[in-house]
Amino acid sequence: MKDFLIVYSSKTGNTEKVAKKFYEVAGERCDLAAVKQVPAVDDYKVIFAGYWVDKGEPDKDMQEFLQTLDNKKVVLFQTLGAEAYSEHGISSLANAGRYLSTGCKVVGTLSIRGAIDPKLIETMMKMPEGHPHAPTEESKKRWKDASTHPDEADLQAAGEYIQKFITFYDRFYK
Ligand SMILES: Cc1cc2nc3c(=O)[nH]c(=O)nc-3n(C[C@H](O)[C@H](O)[C@H](O)COP(=O)(O)O)c2cc1C
Repeated sequence: MKDFLIVYSSKTGNTEKVAKKFYEVAGERCDLAAVKQVPAVDDYKVIFAGYWVDKGEPDKDMQEFLQTLDNKKVVLFQTLGAEAYSEHGISSLANAGRYLSTGCKVVGTLSIRGAIDPKLIETMMKMPEGHPHAPTEESKKRWKDASTHPDEADLQAAGEYIQKFITFYDRFYK
């Protein structure tokens, strides 16, 4: 039995990069699985569940996976176009927690910025003035700022996060 299972859902690769960084750092103590190919979760002590934020919620595939968990310790991690710990980032993490049953325990969270799919930006650029996703100076700056993430510093922070988590886990949960 391994300690950790890292499950990720990723459409354009951002969340996958973070998941792979976790996997690289946690090494033999963990397995890595895409959300559509998850092994039996009972074989693991902690499930790391990573998703891309879709309208302030975990993406649909991750919503479904989170609802299958029961009595598990869970670390939620996400990538999103907004600033990682903006109000939107924090509420998106909280929203993900709502898909877990009450028997689960969230033992960690991590939010990381991720570039927005250029195809989505193209669509939003065409939206009429007044539409909530229509381009404004502010939103264009937000999309541009996101475009280089997750960068090396983000991935390093992810590596440090799981390293610290493992220390915490060995001390309090093992
Ligand atoms: C349909 C769609 C909806 C999105 N909704 C949000 C959102 O509500 N908030 C946000 O900050 N980013 C949003 N994003 C941006 C993604 O969460 C972000 O680009 C993420 O890093 C993508 O991860 P992936 O590369 O693992 O698929 C959305 C992207 C798409 C395609």
